[in-house]
Amino acid sequence: MYNGSLRFCFLPFDLTTQDPLRISKMVKICCIGAGYVGGPTMAVIALKCPEIEVAVVDISVSRIAAWNSDTLPIYEPGLDEVVKKCRGKNLFFSTDVEKHVSEADIVFVSVNTPTKTQGLGAGKAADLTYWESAARMIADVSKSNKIVVEKSTVPVKTAEAIEKILNHNSKGIDFQILSNPEFLAEGTAIQDLFNPDRVLIGGRETPEGQKAIEALRDVYAHWVPVDRIICTNLWSAELSKLAANAFLAQRISSVNAMSALCEATGADVSQVSHAVGKDTRIGPKFLNASVGFGGSCFQKDILNLVYICECNGLPEVANYWKQVIKINDYQKTRFVNRIVSSMFNTVSGKKIAILGFAFKKDTGDTRETPAIDVCKGLLGDKALLSIYDPQVNEEQIQRDLAMKKFDWDHPVHLQPMSPTSIKQVNVVWDAYAATKDAHGVCILTEWDEFKTLDYQRIYDNMRKPAFVFDGRNVVDEAKLRAIGFIVYSIGKPLDQWLKDMPAMA
Ligand code: NAI
Repeated sequence: MYNGSLRFCFLPFDLTTQDPLRISKMVKICCIGAGYVGGPTMAVIALKCPEIEVAVVDISVSRIAAWNSDTLPIYEPGLDEVVKKCRGKNLFFSTDVEKHVSEADIVFVSVNTPTKTQGLGAGKAADLTYWESAARMIADVSKSNKIVVEKSTVPVKTAEAIEKILNHNSKGIDFQILSNPEFLAEGTAIQDLFNPDRVLIGGRETPEGQKAIEALRDVYAHWVPVDRIICTNLWSAELSKLAANAFLAQRISSVNAMSALCEATGADVSQVSHAVGKDTRIGPKFLNASVGFGGSCFQKDILNLVYICECNGLPEVANYWKQVIKINDYQKTRFVNRIVSSMFNTVSGKKIAILGFAFKKDTGDTRETPAIDVCKGLLGDKALLSIYDPQVNEEQIQRDLAMKKFDWDHPVHLQPMSPTSIKQVNVVWDAYAATKDAHGVCILTEWDEFKTLDYQRIYDNMRKPAFVFDGRNVVDEAKLRAIGFIVYSIGKPLDQWLKDMPAMA
């Protein structure tokens, strides 16, 4: 654990001189971007480092207002408590971006890095518009030396580009760039930040670069054991983040590929993944078959990796990683096809209840959620959808279903507005209302409450034959079959009904 040295915390660094650091003022951190990453990470730094003043700034007025209110803009277990302990003391949320940046010693940049939709690298490369504008602003408003920390996930060598923007100022200010990618997972962000597997800090291999790394390491060392703080060069840190997400997504696509084979052969994917995961070289985590992965990072980061491979003349490597995304898309299509083929090859005019819209449990985040593609697939076959998610509201669902691919990754006020809401979609606040008079139920998020619903009551109020399509393997199929449901669980032995109506992928 932290060894008690608070050197950095009271000693703002002066990177232009070799003088011992001056004891003069409280260290100030500013984070540009008050999103899923910026908000929770800065709240935890403020909690663990009471002597550091942390300001989180954003161009979105509504987001900052929400951070300053009783209803935070994101749902994350434990986040409210942390924010309430520090807000107004050493944690501040503000739209005065320039003021806080100019006063800060360390500036984290945690802004959106969407996938490009036009021009060179469209559909794969990262769009660094927001990053570049943040860097230019830092260069413009700075009056003192700063450490600038990449928190956003960025393509390898972004730091080099940012360094050029920052250091081509005429004021003689020195900027040290660090890469400190964030590994938190939504839904467990606070737990992950309190007890990270590792903190990764990449910097230049110069004395100034090493000094900057030390300064940031001292912040984390307040609560992270030093042997978990890994220091590397800039490029290794940037690439490690993309590689980690690619490996995680690859495990999901691997088990999902197995799930299709299990259905075809009568094996049970839960038994297979249990047996496979018992091998200590493989491990049990991230081996749950499902309707597919989602979230803001996996697809985007793999596309980014693919683009980097292509740009470096490695098409075989690019194709290898592309396949992880293709299997994910295949899994979603396969799920929709199962539903349609089981229900006599048409869902036109049929009410289908969608339980869960977020990309995973314990978050309200819907970015790249598989629910979007599943719902769009069912709407394409003219189904009537009744959607319930405990953390996602109607406006968000309508916006997601109307939005074009990749448009979600822009600040809220810059996202294209949904023209009109989709009439075949009804959003309700209760699983029983969603399933009433439905022909089928699709479970698309593994919320705990879906395990304990009164399925007898649901069955009694549904049209018959009543179907359950479990995209997260949360229900007890045997119990539901005993009630009378026809059940499809991913990668599990099929009901006779489903065997007779094979899904065409
Ligand atoms: P987000 O969309 O929730 O937050 C980004 C924020 O930046 C928005 O509130 C936006 O208004 C603000 N912003 C954009 N340009 C700005 C500017 N010039 N000045 C001030 N504010 C600006 O995004 P999120 O999820 O926090 O992700 C941020 C970065 O972290 C992305 O690169 C993402 O890939 C990466 N990341 C995300 C993780 C996640 O679980 N969400 C985990 C690890 C990394």
